[in-house]
Amino acid sequence: MLDLSVNYLGIKLENPIVVASSGLSGSIEKIKTLEANGAAAIVLKSLFEEQILAESAHNISKDETFGYDVHDYISSYIRDNSIGDYIQHIKNAKAAVSIPVIASINCVDAQEWMNWAKKFEEAGADAIEINMSVLPSDHNRTSAEAEKAVFEIIEAVRKVISIPIALKISYYSASLANFVKTISWTRNVDGIILFNRYYNPDIDIENLKITSSDVFSSPSDNANTLRWVSILSQVIDEKVDLIATTGIHSGEDIIKQLLAGATAVQLASAIYIHGPEIIMSMLTIIEDWMKRHNFNSINEFRGKLAFDPDKNTVAFERIQFMKHFGGIE
Ligand SMILES: Cc1cc2nc3c(=O)[nH]c(=O)nc-3n(C[C@H](O)[C@H](O)[C@H](O)COP(=O)(O)O)c2cc1C
Repeated sequence: MLDLSVNYLGIKLENPIVVASSGLSGSIEKIKTLEANGAAAIVLKSLFEEQILAESAHNISKDETFGYDVHDYISSYIRDNSIGDYIQHIKNAKAAVSIPVIASINCVDAQEWMNWAKKFEEAGADAIEINMSVLPSDHNRTSAEAEKAVFEIIEAVRKVISIPIALKISYYSASLANFVKTISWTRNVDGIILFNRYYNPDIDIENLKITSSDVFSSPSDNANTLRWVSILSQVIDEKVDLIATTGIHSGEDIIKQLLAGATAVQLASAIYIHGPEIIMSMLTIIEDWMKRHNFNSINEFRGKLAFDPDKNTVAFERIQFMKHFGGIE
């Protein structure tokens, strides 16, 4: 009997596949279908800090620099996604399924919003995911200031809730390895999710317009996540999980992430593209591979191919670059 279970933020999951925060968990019917198809946990779509603050404070000023009225946009977003609805959604989801239900907050600053995390805990959320959406596009903000915001938020949230906390970050950091390691040392989070995927602009050269690139990831995006999971899995605090997301589209991709040291993976695009049935076929691929390689549990191979922290990662990466690209004329 193969054991696919993993310990995710201190919670036992039946397998390493978690449904990433998105509209996939927008209704109770969808959540039930995901559970029936093998999802081990689900993360609800994020509630945005702007929604939380604007609902009570109306403190978003009119800003014409984006070419449209931000205040109106956020107000209508709030109407569609009110906090009360979110709390009710957590309660309904908890009543409908037995897999863990994780609430998600997308934030940029440590403000009074974090008291809502307490309300999500009270509503029954099994954990809270903090999606730090601070992109380094502000040319007046230093990397130290951006990182400080992250440390402040996780410290503030840790003070108000006792359920596990996962932090979802982007790969934009001048010293990513050190940043992630230091976050883990604070023990203010139980897991770190690498990496969030952002809106990427594209340009329509015929109509001279800015458009957006694909909403969904592609399998080639997995390489970046794999690289960082591999570099970081053995250097962060051992009590903190590393969770892989972005570009994971197959059972083989999941095996790679586990070998690199991820505790679990989060999927969105693959489920949007192929439907929830993809989860079961990915689990079958993992099981078949484990049988072929005589592994009975995920713990037996997790991290087996992570970067060795005693080796010089920087020198290793430079030599690989020289080896792979240097010989091509
Ligand atoms: C349609 C859609 C909606 C998403 N909404 C959220 C969200 O509300 N909060 C969040 O943290 N991530 C959100 N994400 C990002 C996913 O949770 C995930 O991190 C990202 O898509 C990378 O995983 P993937 O390659 O499997 O898609 C969304 C992704 C998609 C495709």
